Formats: sequence, structure tokens, C-alpha cells
Amino acid sequence: MSKTLQAQDLQTQVATILVAAGSTPAEADKVAANLVLANLSGHDSHGVGMVPRYVDAVLEGGLTPNAAVKVNLDIGTMLALDGQRGYGQVVGEQAMRLGMERAKQHGSCIMTLGNAHHLGRIGHFAEMAVAEGLVSLHFVNVLSRPVVAPWGGADGRFGTNPCCIGVPLQGKEPFILDFATSRVAQGKMRVAHNKGIQVEPGTLIDEHGNPTTDPGVVVVPQSNGLFGALMTFGEHKGYGMAVACELLGGALSGGGTWHRPTDQARAVVNGMLTILIDPRKLGTQEKFAEEADAFVNWLQNGPVAPGFEAVQIAGEPERATRVVRKVEGVTVDDQTWQEILAAGKKVGVAT
Ligand SMILES: NC(=O)c1ccc[n+]([C@@H]2O[C@H](COP(=O)([O-])OP(=O)(O)OC[C@H]3O[C@@H](n4cnc5c(N)ncnc54)[C@H](O)[C@@H]3O)[C@@H](O)[C@H]2O)c1
Repeated sequence: MSKTLQAQDLQTQVATILVAAGSTPAEADKVAANLVLANLSGHDSHGVGMVPRYVDAVLEGGLTPNAAVKVNLDIGTMLALDGQRGYGQVVGEQAMRLGMERAKQHGSCIMTLGNAHHLGRIGHFAEMAVAEGLVSLHFVNVLSRPVVAPWGGADGRFGTNPCCIGVPLQGKEPFILDFATSRVAQGKMRVAHNKGIQVEPGTLIDEHGNPTTDPGVVVVPQSNGLFGALMTFGEHKGYGMAVACELLGGALSGGGTWHRPTDQARAVVNGMLTILIDPRKLGTQEKFAEEADAFVNWLQNGPVAPGFEAVQIAGEPERATRVVRKVEGVTVDDQTWQEILAAGKKVGVAT
């Protein structure tokens, strides 16, 4: 039996667990609001279902409640920050505020953030930037179980490394492109496996590196004790993007890249390179606004293909889902809900 809750109720319940896990009420509220917003946006894989993992990570010492971002370097146009294993929802926002302030002052800011715990939906940070009229680019690596195979490789070597680009559009809702470089999310494979359904060809390889449509290969250990792996989107091109995310988000940030065997740690650590640009300082603001508007109109005024309702730009599906779920509430499947309650119990929240 799934459970449907209004966003505010869900946020309150999640915040209670996070406080019990050691966060101040303010931190718990911020993290809970961010997770619920991911659910509202249609990205349940990055919503409240992450709470059990966060609680485990705190209990293991891989996630530090109430941590703040540490500034290692600040020369105005460049910022090097360390998230000190704090909640990504908190240190990520702190980092963005520092970067945005500098971008508005100098025209641009290149910011690295290493050692943040799970930053969640990266589009959240691009949304912060576009709300201030800034263009925002993000390259992120994921230090957790390596579930994605390199193009031509036969096992998982890196994470779902997301990439995100936010562009403000004058008089229109912004363009927010925000995606994992794996063809699909690992969480979706668990759901498919539990339902006993096969997935699209081109999504997975098995533990020997052969193509398969069986999602179980990345959910349960296979005959040789190994897992299969997810493939990147767009074949070698998506693979290249994933490597760029590892090199920029992981290596350049100083946070680190993945190059070790899988371990059992529950923490999910993200490194992120962010590039912020203020078009008002670049001197192209007027032309930029005009041309961006003309181009988006051109896209959306074209003929619509059979099976589609409209040509959309990135960011629109999430906004549309928010409108619906703010009214209808957020539905959490039974297994996820039980896991959330169990996580609460671990830190003493009575159910
Ligand atoms: N923090 C982490 O470690 C981590 C890792 C991986 C992914 N993520 C997050 O997971 C989330 C989901 O990623 P995903 O790859 O599953 O997303 P996805 O495959 O749903 O793609 C989402 C992107 O495609 C756009 N889009 C969707 N349908 C569209 C359409 N019809 N027309 C135009 N644009 C369309 C969306 O607006 C969005 O920008 C993202 O928010 C990402 O940041 C986070």
C-alpha cells in the first residue's frame, strides 16, 4: 500500500527523523524541504527515499550533521570550497550563495566544492542561480558504489555523475537541464526488479559485460558474486560527459575520484565544479535575452511529432509535476515508507 501525503506533512515527518539523527531543527527543515521538492518535481529517486541512507551514513560517521562549508580559497572570481561531509542540501546552498555573490560582483565565478555529502537534485542549485539572472553550469561526480560502466568496459567504474545547465530566460520560465549521465537511475532498476519487469535494451550489461535487459544484474549479486552495470546515455558521448564530471567535479575540486574496489559505506559523497556567469556584466544581456527568447519560440512553434503533446524545454516537466503534486500530494510507495519509518526507529523516533 502506497501512502500519499501533502508536501508539508511529509517535510515535517522527515525533519523529525533528521533532528533525531543529530541535525538542528533549521538544518533538518532545509534538508527535508529539499528532498520533498525533489518528490514534488517528479524525481522520487532523489526525494525522501534517501532518508534511510542519510541516517545510516550519519550513524557510520560518513555524513556530519550541522557542518558548514569551509573556504580554502577565495580570490573573487575563483572559490575553492570543502563541504566537510555536511548535508549537501546545506553546504551546497551555502556554496551557491558565496559563488553567486562573487559572480554578480565580478561577472563570473568558478567554484569548486569537494567533500559534500549527497547534493541531491543538482537542478536546485541552477534554480537558485537563474532566479538571480545568472547562467549556471554544474559538473558533479559521485563517490559511492560504482554502478556505471565506461563505454567498452565490462564493469561499473564510476557513479551516475550528473550534469546540469541553468539559463535564465527573460519573461519566461528558465531552461534547467539536469540529468544523470547514466542511461537511467539505479533506483529505477530496483523498482523494475521488484516488479519483475525487463528494461530497455542498451540500459545494462551483466556481470560478464554482455548486454542484458534484466534489472536484477545491478540489484542482486550475480553467480560470481559480482554485479552488472548501468550504461551511460548516448553511448560514447554520454560516457565522455561522465568522465568529464569525474575529472571536473572529482579531481579538479580536490574532493577525489573513484578508483578503488566497492565498499559497503552508505555515505554518498559528491564533488562539484560550478561555473556562474552574469550576462549583465558580459555586455550581451540585451541580445542574449532577445535571441534566447526567439530561439525558444522557434522550437516551441514547430510541428509536434505524433505521440507528443508539445515541444518542451528542459525544466518544464519538473515545473508541471510540481503544480500537480502540490495539490494531489506526494505518493511514497510502501517499501520506501517502511524504510523511512525503520530509519526513524534507528534514531529513536517512535512510529
Ligand atoms: N547528487 C547526485 O549524486 C546525483 C546523481 C545522479 C542524478 N542526480 C539527480 O537525479 C535527477 C534525475 O536525473 P535523471 O537523469 O534521471 O533525469 P531525467 O532523465 O528525468 O532527465 C531530466 C532532464 O530532462 C529534461 N526533460 C525531461 N523530459 C523532457 C522533455 N520531454 N522535453 C525536454 N526536456 C525534458 C528535464 O527537464 C531535466 O532537465 C537530477 O535532478 C539529477 O541532478 C543526482
